[in-house]
Amino acid sequence: MEEITVNGKVFKVSESDLKMSLIDYLRDRLDLTGTKNGCNIGVCGACTVLIDGNSKRSCVVPMIKAVGKKIVTIEGMEAEDGSLHPIQQAFIDAGAIQCGFCTPGMVLSAQSLLLKNKTPSREQIKKALAGNLCRCTGYQQIIDAVEIAAELIGKEESTTTSKGGGL
Ligand code: FES
Ligand code: FES
Repeated sequence: MEEITVNGKVFKVSESDLKMSLIDYLRDRLDLTGTKNGCNIGVCGACTVLIDGNSKRSCVVPMIKAVGKKIVTIEGMEAEDGSLHPIQQAFIDAGAIQCGFCTPGMVLSAQSLLLKNKTPSREQIKKALAGNLCRCTGYQQIIDAVEIAAELIGKEESTTTSKGGGL
């Protein structure tokens, strides 16, 4: 039987699961409803998740293409102790959340960017989030949030490095 890893847990995928889209599997089978369905045709980005570290629109990914991969949804972003991921905290700090519908997808697109580029320019952030639509914020606060997140993550990493450096 095929398997899929979602937020670090391995799930068996049945024949009927294989006929679904990834978004339907996540929401209907695993009850991970943080992944939002805005258009179901690959236009709005609300359904964005990470597949092996890359941001993908889960509404246009058939399960057959997702098996064997590592998926991260918004539910997988917080730390084990329940504290928010720096990107989530930065969205709050920057006032980048209004209705919140686009937020999970934005956070996952930002994570995909920051995994590859720890110090992106505003232009690079804009480009990385270009496929994620927001009807509320006007985007500026969202770009601010990703800049703040990059700083927070950089600080966290330098603290960890310096703590470990003397051991
Ligand atoms: S719900 Fe997938 S892109 Fe809109
Ligand atoms: S905060 Fe409402 S769609 Fe972005």
